[in-house]
Amino acid sequence: MKQYLKQDEWKIIEEGLNPHYNKISESVFSLGNGRMGQRATFEEDYSGETHQGSYVAGVYYPDKTRVGWWKNGYPEYFAKVLNAPSWIDIKIKMAGQTLDLAQCQVEKFVRVLDMKTGLLQRSFTATLPDGKKVEVESKRFCSMADGEIGAIRYQITALNFSDDIVLTLSVNADVVNKDSNYDEKFWDEVFKEATPGSAIVTAQTRKTFFHVTTAMTHKVESDGKNVVSKVSTNTREKYADNVVQTELKQDKPLVIYKYAAVLSSENHAKEKMVEHAKAKLSEVVTAGFDVLFEKHASVWAHKWEECDITIDGDVAAQQGIRFNIFQLTQTYTGEDERLNIGPKGFTGEKYGGSTYWDTEAYCLPFFMSTAEPKVPRNLLVYRYKHLQKAIENGMKLGFKDGAAFYPFVTMNGEECHNEWEITFEEIHRTSAMAYAMRDYVDYTGDQDYFTEYGLEVLIGIARFWTQRVNWSTDKNKYVILGVTGPNEYENNVHNNWYTNYLGAWTLRFAQHAIDYVKGNDVKRFEEIVAKTKFNEKVETEMWKHISDNMYYPYDPKRKVILQQDGFLDKELMHVKDLKPEDRPLNQKWSWDRILRSCFIKQADVLQGIYLFEDDFDLDTMRRNFDFYEPMTVHESSLSPCVHVVLASKLGYKEQAYQFYLRTARLDLDDYNNDTEEGCHITSMAGTWMSVVKGFGGMRIRDGKLHFAPYLPDQWKSYSFRIEFRGRVLKVKVANEKVETVLEHGEQLEVIMNGKPVLLK
Ligand code: BGC
Repeated sequence: MKQYLKQDEWKIIEEGLNPHYNKISESVFSLGNGRMGQRATFEEDYSGETHQGSYVAGVYYPDKTRVGWWKNGYPEYFAKVLNAPSWIDIKIKMAGQTLDLAQCQVEKFVRVLDMKTGLLQRSFTATLPDGKKVEVESKRFCSMADGEIGAIRYQITALNFSDDIVLTLSVNADVVNKDSNYDEKFWDEVFKEATPGSAIVTAQTRKTFFHVTTAMTHKVESDGKNVVSKVSTNTREKYADNVVQTELKQDKPLVIYKYAAVLSSENHAKEKMVEHAKAKLSEVVTAGFDVLFEKHASVWAHKWEECDITIDGDVAAQQGIRFNIFQLTQTYTGEDERLNIGPKGFTGEKYGGSTYWDTEAYCLPFFMSTAEPKVPRNLLVYRYKHLQKAIENGMKLGFKDGAAFYPFVTMNGEECHNEWEITFEEIHRTSAMAYAMRDYVDYTGDQDYFTEYGLEVLIGIARFWTQRVNWSTDKNKYVILGVTGPNEYENNVHNNWYTNYLGAWTLRFAQHAIDYVKGNDVKRFEEIVAKTKFNEKVETEMWKHISDNMYYPYDPKRKVILQQDGFLDKELMHVKDLKPEDRPLNQKWSWDRILRSCFIKQADVLQGIYLFEDDFDLDTMRRNFDFYEPMTVHESSLSPCVHVVLASKLGYKEQAYQFYLRTARLDLDDYNNDTEEGCHITSMAGTWMSVVKGFGGMRIRDGKLHFAPYLPDQWKSYSFRIEFRGRVLKVKVANEKVETVLEHGEQLEVIMNGKPVLLK
């Protein structure tokens, strides 16, 4: 855990250059706008530890799989989020010397991310090796008002000299993915052009043939006037620039504006991209930095109105929740149904792929409660559109007759994960799609989703489970063998309780969807039957038989659910007894040792209790929480938030608060020692859940909103806002007092601590 960032309610602040933590800061201070984004690398050269990363939503490359030993069924490709052409560089030379903070004496370094307005700022003074001293202030944003533009204002002042300055302003598609499997480059050049005033490169991804046009233009001013400068141009493969030579006079700030347009062939005809990029550049340069920024900031102001959570009396907690909401919002805006929520967003490239079960199990509630209804629906439709691919994924593993096996990680519906214990065995993820439907229908009341899309998906998933279970004559029950549960620190186990429970539940839920569709639109039902070749009688009888006769491992002595068969044979130890140098286990222990130990990566049995809370009484919850949590290392970012919700329900207030800090400040404090590879975007929705479902106790039951709020001892008050079926509600929880205000929409009855309250 590191605590080098300053706490503030709206800002993330780093004071002093921290070369060792630079890559962490590059992740934390990242910018994005749903369409593109980049890590917070410096504009000028930096020869220290850095990871230059720019990303364009939806643009990926299927890298050829690399594994030690090939196993049939492995996907041949691993779709990678691509490090995309960069537009942020402003390289600076004075009297032949490069401004490079790793080679300078740096003072007054401050990096600030203003979350209110989505602005990244940096300032410092640097003394170059020959004694020249400069002061720099930079500002940068990726526009939320127009996802295709970005802008930089970079001001440099000579403090003790006057001399020539050479600025190199480039666009550069000669970039590599750090995790490229065969050290290949993934981009080819299609077009480049450098004219005085602009530089443009269109690059094409190999194999997938996405085109990305990256274009920049600039202005250099002093005292608000254009400066006289000599501009030359250069191009080389995948690269174009403008080199501006001018004079830097002592104490006269030189202001460089760099504007960028980034266009993807996902949104433009390939042959028109350069033309469109040029048009965009002339638009932005006419508008100018301040106007562009104003528009961008006003979108943020609106977003914050929809989804801000305030916490009074605890700056660390307030900063944490805003940071999570900020990163989630700039990763996914919900405007394009082809996109999804990558686990690293625009902050890094680890993990590849863009879509995990994280979206359905963790992110959906945030978007249901804070965005317009089409956004969560789009997230569901995304999976509907991948149904055929899910069926193909199943076929590759030997499933048949339309069994849908959704991928663990995907870009286009195809599986692109290649660790057998996850690809083949972490099968619970296919039912996250079913659970998301339940969550969505419960929250929105939009049951017609089943009719339009949902039932087809559920039939596919139900077929998967009927083929994946097997009858154990020994147990006289159905069992599910050779799986990995959510706790990835156990592989190839039998009867992971979570998986068995979810599988059986899915079969019952699919039946529920059939009843609804049949009862409401027989014609459409018949259409679905024909399309999916559904044998209703035979298949649904099978579903019932399986769900009625599923085996669930249980320990009658302790009265706890067992994570899997044989769990009690392990040496049962508690995390508190581990030595600090053993943590995190995944970086310190061999895999063999992890697998044999009892330590749990993330909620597993507790994940099931969290998702199906109403199926369990409080005593059962408590016994299982008390048994499993002490063995949980929370080395997945998805873990602490589930524990906040459960601990809150159980009245473990202090523990809930500690878990909250851990989820909210996971990246800010680098709890898991991996933030330098990117932030944990999907678990950020879990932080939101921790407040709203954990401390606020929000649930939906029978179409009604329930709350059971309490105030953590460390806070004076907190408030959150949610959208629910056409209404906007604000809930404020202070000492002994809960205020619920209907800000918009028709009157609504909510259940507050078990009692109905009519909101007008
Ligand atoms: C977790 C998975 C999760 C993935 C992406 C892993 O560490 O164990 O549950 O889907 O990260 O967030």
